[in-house]
Amino acid sequence: MTNPERDRRKALRAVLRERFPRDRGQLLPALHHLQHEFGHLPDWAMEVVGWHLGIPVSEVYGAATSYSELRVQEPGERVVRVCTGLACWLSGGGDILEAMQAELGVHAGETAPDGGVTLEETPCGFLCGVAPALELNGRWTGRVTPDSARALVQGTAGT
Ligand code: FES
Repeated sequence: MTNPERDRRKALRAVLRERFPRDRGQLLPALHHLQHEFGHLPDWAMEVVGWHLGIPVSEVYGAATSYSELRVQEPGERVVRVCTGLACWLSGGGDILEAMQAELGVHAGETAPDGGVTLEETPCGFLCGVAPALELNGRWTGRVTPDSARALVQGTAGT
């Protein structure tokens, strides 16, 4: 009889054994692996990582919540990230964030109740030369304005 919960833990343990030596220094690389695989860090997967590396789950969770690029909550279907790093902030990033909060009906760090969208702030998207920048579902756009950001999330940009 199949047990999907046990099978997914087993599959992850096999990947961790193959790719991540049992060393505390592998914690962040392993968490990035989870983020890449699942789009966030599911509790069960953090437990498996902790077991594999011999690190208490509380410590794994602490690390996971210390880095803005790691997400412990399952994101919405669409993820909008507004850069609020210095260059973007000085170029109007605060206005972009405000426009997105109004447009999407959620505050930064929240997912809409229907799971349709998650809005996040990010410290720097490494596009400072074209600040302010916004990321929609992994695709960055620079030199956004409140209007162009609204058009992007409405899917009407360039139409
Ligand atoms: S501060 Fe926004 S891309 Fe660097």
